[in-house]
Amino acid sequence: MISVPFYRHGLGAEHAALVSDVISSPFLTTGGVARETETLLEGFFHIAGAKLANSWTNGAVATLLAMGIGPGDEVIVPAMTFVATANVVELVGATPVFVDVDPETLLIDIAGVARAVTPRTRAVIPVHLYGQMVDIVALRAALPAGLRIIEDAAHCFEGTLNGERPGRHSDAAIFSFYATKNVTCGEGGAIITGDPDLRAKLNQTGLHGMSAGAANRFSGKVYNHWDMECLGTKANLPDILAALLAPQIKDIATIQAARQRLAARYRDAFADIAGLRLVRQVAGGVSAEHLFPIAVEPALRDGFMVALNESGVATTVNYNPVHRTRYYRERYPDTTKGLTVSENWGYGTISIPLFPGLTDQEQDHVISVVRRMAAQML
Ligand SMILES: Cc1ncc(COP(=O)(O)O)c(C=O)c1O
Repeated sequence: MISVPFYRHGLGAEHAALVSDVISSPFLTTGGVARETETLLEGFFHIAGAKLANSWTNGAVATLLAMGIGPGDEVIVPAMTFVATANVVELVGATPVFVDVDPETLLIDIAGVARAVTPRTRAVIPVHLYGQMVDIVALRAALPAGLRIIEDAAHCFEGTLNGERPGRHSDAAIFSFYATKNVTCGEGGAIITGDPDLRAKLNQTGLHGMSAGAANRFSGKVYNHWDMECLGTKANLPDILAALLAPQIKDIATIQAARQRLAARYRDAFADIAGLRLVRQVAGGVSAEHLFPIAVEPALRDGFMVALNESGVATTVNYNPVHRTRYYRERYPDTTKGLTVSENWGYGTISIPLFPGLTDQEQDHVISVVRRMAAQML
């Protein structure tokens, strides 16, 4: 029986050679390769500032620290996302406030965000879930002046809305280069911002609050003293990993076209299955097609997923609703109820294989298994 993995990375000899070049140099951590990659990102996103990070998570912590967000502050996040979106708020001592999502796009409900704003609200972290962008212009218009918007673009490197990429209308957008992401270096991320003060501050909050990073401390062959000027985390991406990114960024149109073709084949193949829900495509948007989730009735989900797995189709769940995880329901028992869209979707959703190297034969197998199991079980 054919067995289809959930994900297979597309890195090869070309990428290995670039890592080898870094190993052959005396400098392994954050230096020239990282800086060149940041310049590439600034060009790709048409934005003044890009900063690589060693994960989305550490990049977001550095961003929240740079914005001075901490104890006593509230940050609005969607309940349908990966736990990291809320965790970074907790990690800086602020309070995540969960808001439900649109039942069809699964993107944060902008009217719900507006209702959740209090005098303590400092920021919103909208999530471009599965690769489709939240309308940041509409979100901004619904918020009081002065609130920060940090786009969680972990799923949306190459997606657009109305022809615009992430970062255009927010204070910052943050990407993930985790192992299964559309652009990957195993573990990594990047923050982009048009705010020069924020970009400068990230150099410190992303590196222990120090006044100079390693590349600067040893520049000019003379040791330069540094001071610790604020509290920071350790978010810098070493050159040895940064080296993997440039070829993927340059090749993103090909990567995107492959994902779009596969996602369209799935949509066509499942359009007539009554018991299966698919995500509605946002008008004016081009999805990064990071994940392909399908959803069934929550009571049927785990059985359906096991049936797919036993027929050689690997799956994941993106995501059980964050506010119902043990940590959040015990910590915020009064405010983590009634987010019914996130709960209904989150307990019913299954992600099926979607990656550029998925062969038509593999995808045909996934399609036929899903169709057969749907006919039997839904
Ligand atoms: C929506 C979302 N936000 C944040 C993250 C965290 O990314 P990282 O693993 O790079 O910290 C992920 C990772 O899977 C994600 O899917």
